[in-house]
Amino acid sequence: MDPTISVQNPEKKEDSSVCVGREDDIKKSKRMTAVVHDREVVIFYHKGEYHAMDIRCYHSGGPLHLGEIEDFDGRSCIVCPWHKYKITLATGEGLYQSINPKDPSAKPKWCSKGIKQRIHTVTVDNGNLYVTLSKEPFKCDSDYYATGDFKVIQSPS
Ligand code: FES
Repeated sequence: MDPTISVQNPEKKEDSSVCVGREDDIKKSKRMTAVVHDREVVIFYHKGEYHAMDIRCYHSGGPLHLGEIEDFDGRSCIVCPWHKYKITLATGEGLYQSINPKDPSAKPKWCSKGIKQRIHTVTVDNGNLYVTLSKEPFKCDSDYYATGDFKVIQSPS
């Protein structure tokens, strides 16, 4: 056994799930905001499913909790209120429409820029809603706005 690995190795605090509210409440309000281990998230209840993501848009930090949800190409997206970027609720992908300049008659196609907004996990236990922060090791564009200077939810001082 590697002696550098602690036998006790307690779960890191930021890995644990945090109770953010009641299922009944979000089913009425359809969305809520929360601070999970110092990271601000928005949770949506849409078409019977929960989705949590970083609250600030990956593009320039727009407040996604104030955006509208619309379907594009059959995928539910939050539309950022600042510059109308579309972000899929399920995966955090940025969607855009592309056209072929050599064929102006062709219909624009929806394409993905890849995952731009960090998605977190929502679970329900006994009527309580929990959020577990993403542990995915990749660098996500929304990480930039998830740090101190861009916070939108004021914590009590
Ligand atoms: Fe969200 Fe620009 S900040 S689209």
